[in-house]
Amino acid sequence: MNAVVVGAYWGDEGKGKIVDLLAADSDWVVRFNGGDNAGHTIVANGKEVVLHVVPAGIVQGKNVAIGPDIFFNPKTFFSDCEAVTKAGFRLKGRMLIDERAHVIMPYHIALDAGGEASGKLGTTKRGIGPAAKDKASRTEDITIHDMAGSVFKERLRAVAAAKANELITAKIVEKASDLNRYADAVYAEYSAYAGRLKQYIGSCAYTLNEELAKGRTMLLEGAQATLLDIVHGTRPHVTSSNCTAGGAAANLGVDLRKFKVVAIAKAYPTRVGEGEFPTELGSYEEAKKEKKGEQLTAAEKKKAVDGDLKLLGKWIRQDGKEFGATTGRPRRTGFPDFVALRYSAMINSVDEWAITKIDVLSGKPFKAAVAYEKEGKKTTRFPFRLEGWKPVYGSKEYFWQQMSEGEKLAAVKNGYDALPEGMKEYIKDLVAATNTPASMVSIGPEREMTVVKDVLKRTKEY
Ligand code: IMP
Repeated sequence: MNAVVVGAYWGDEGKGKIVDLLAADSDWVVRFNGGDNAGHTIVANGKEVVLHVVPAGIVQGKNVAIGPDIFFNPKTFFSDCEAVTKAGFRLKGRMLIDERAHVIMPYHIALDAGGEASGKLGTTKRGIGPAAKDKASRTEDITIHDMAGSVFKERLRAVAAAKANELITAKIVEKASDLNRYADAVYAEYSAYAGRLKQYIGSCAYTLNEELAKGRTMLLEGAQATLLDIVHGTRPHVTSSNCTAGGAAANLGVDLRKFKVVAIAKAYPTRVGEGEFPTELGSYEEAKKEKKGEQLTAAEKKKAVDGDLKLLGKWIRQDGKEFGATTGRPRRTGFPDFVALRYSAMINSVDEWAITKIDVLSGKPFKAAVAYEKEGKKTTRFPFRLEGWKPVYGSKEYFWQQMSEGEKLAAVKNGYDALPEGMKEYIKDLVAATNTPASMVSIGPEREMTVVKDVLKRTKEY
């Protein structure tokens, strides 16, 4: 089966594990958007491998591809490759990088770090936005094709000249007479990368369509998530690429009708960086002060159960280990939001939800937003501008006790019916609110802690 996997909220949905599970049945795993602003850690051959741009399918022995809508940082790519080879996997003959992908240059990273967007939007400072800006300019961009071509040096000098004001203002280059020297220094570093990359460069559109025609199966993996999509997301606090299922088809040039759309609905939304977050628990300012691993005392947990939402947010953050893999930043946490999920289901034509990290909500009473309200006006639509909209929560409070290891294993073995009643009540309401069934429920970080049996069958009945 071919599948597209996307996140439903603002990213960090635990996609890695689901992709890992689904990739087992795929010949190819393809990254279709974003860049090294994403990141996840996987364990392969007993070694921890951190990957930012290379699809994790590589450590499952799959063919992998990096699509044309990727912002490609060669330095990160080679550090990913090193981690892969150290874990004992080969890349040669199994890696495809699209010639149309755009290269993140050192000045993009410097512009992102020093620019307004990094503060206002809370970007990952990986140069994604500035590289996307150049891509849209069509005159100041550098593709993989350019980088591996014979006139790369001239191209870099021309781009540096075109960007002179920007580079000088940002103090990346001191004065106009230094531009060529700067371009040549970048050339020295990047032409070396280009030499090593050449063996992998090709066309995703041709290769993937040829492979599909031969009956090979593939998994298209999105980075970030629907609400960070440049078109459909919570602009301006979004990333610079298309994170949706339609984006996968558009950017890879493949037929979406050949793919099942699996969207990851983390059991609770999280958000990193700035931006509206209607169901947020506590505030970003408080979250920023928190360190990974800070445990709540028994008294604090009791307070959270009794309604202290700030502490409940912290508890979810700590239990869910909600700290960025790429930036280490604490993630903001919130109550489930059915309005956002219904929107995501629509935008992506979601066939099935994979519900992740539901175990994190065990022992914690919570509610779910079913509508928004502003100045006496109520809506069940996800507004373009969220400012001022307050969540309207459903009347139900969901709760179930922590599952023991034995109960978890029994649920994996016996299937959906063995899940706690309170958990099933929540899943039922999520499915009904989004008119979309679920096919997987993840009840622990380990790969085997995933309930698949009867999930689709039961949730289709709701
Ligand atoms: P950029 O993609 O670095 O330009 O950042 C733009 C926005 O997207 C910021 O709010 C980031 O925190 C967010 N973002 C980018 N990549 C990820 C990700 O992998 N997970 C979650 N948020 C992300």
